[in-house]
Amino acid sequence: MRAITLEAPAKINLGLRITGVLPGGYHSLESVFSAITLADEVRVAVSDNPGDTSLRCTGFPSPEGPSNLVWKAAELFRKETGYTGSIGIRLHKNIPSPGGLGGGSSDTAAVLSALVTLTGLEADIAELGASLGSDVPFFARGFSHAVVRGRGELVEVCRLPEFHAVLVNSGENIPTPVAYSLWDEGSGHLTEPWQISNYTALNFGVWHEGKPFPVRLDNDFLPVLSRRYPGVERATRILSETCVNWGLSGSGPVFYALFHRLEEAEAVAEGLSGKFPWVFQCRSRQIGASSNG
Ligand code: C5P
Repeated sequence: MRAITLEAPAKINLGLRITGVLPGGYHSLESVFSAITLADEVRVAVSDNPGDTSLRCTGFPSPEGPSNLVWKAAELFRKETGYTGSIGIRLHKNIPSPGGLGGGSSDTAAVLSALVTLTGLEADIAELGASLGSDVPFFARGFSHAVVRGRGELVEVCRLPEFHAVLVNSGENIPTPVAYSLWDEGSGHLTEPWQISNYTALNFGVWHEGKPFPVRLDNDFLPVLSRRYPGVERATRILSETCVNWGLSGSGPVFYALFHRLEEAEAVAEGLSGKFPWVFQCRSRQIGASSNG
């Protein structure tokens, strides 16, 4: 038996714009994705003797059967490569779902990457995983920060300064497809893409005038979701009274606030902790930490 344990990091969206509706009902986006130190833990074990897929989950609730994305990832890997050995997955969920934090996509990328390493078989993780989660290509590329476009498959690395972050869960349950259909129902409108043609030129290594990022952290889902979900409206109000650099991650329900200094983040996390069901302090990170075992 061979095994590997990987961290599957969460991401936050530093601004998110919906720029088009694609054939098939998907939407094209423009967003800056940033990986953070909040992460799930994924352990994958394989044995080349013919066998099945198995899954055990701990932490935040996650299905232990074939409906779990990591299970689907293992089955897709088998289909793509012909692998017939046993695949055992242990998933510890620290990333809330739905969160807008890319947890399912990150777990998927981690499982596919582990399977490629453990079996020595070849598979294009980004392409394979994109059918399971739109954020898989970002996680598969392993960048800390990237400008992401299209449905999520166009990933361009960029550089941002280190930051501390405080995450708060607004307490609403907002599945991603629901957020998109609310946007579709007429409340949403297409936004002009950021008029910065070569985004990779955005190599901001330092905070400038109290901001880590020159483009506003607006998220096109926020007005749509605020109207429907009181918890989102409440989080918007509390965060705008408390901090400057804050935003909604993905299609919610988690918000983030960004800080230059650790002490600022700690003070705000403490102040917000009684006001939301889940408050988590973390920072920006490099993807790729792994260990064998
Ligand atoms: O792939 P992911 O899990 O992120 O998508 C969940 C659902 O969200 C999709 O089935 C689709 O309805 C919607 N979606 C979309 N456009 C995207 C990403 C997701 O319409 N770019």
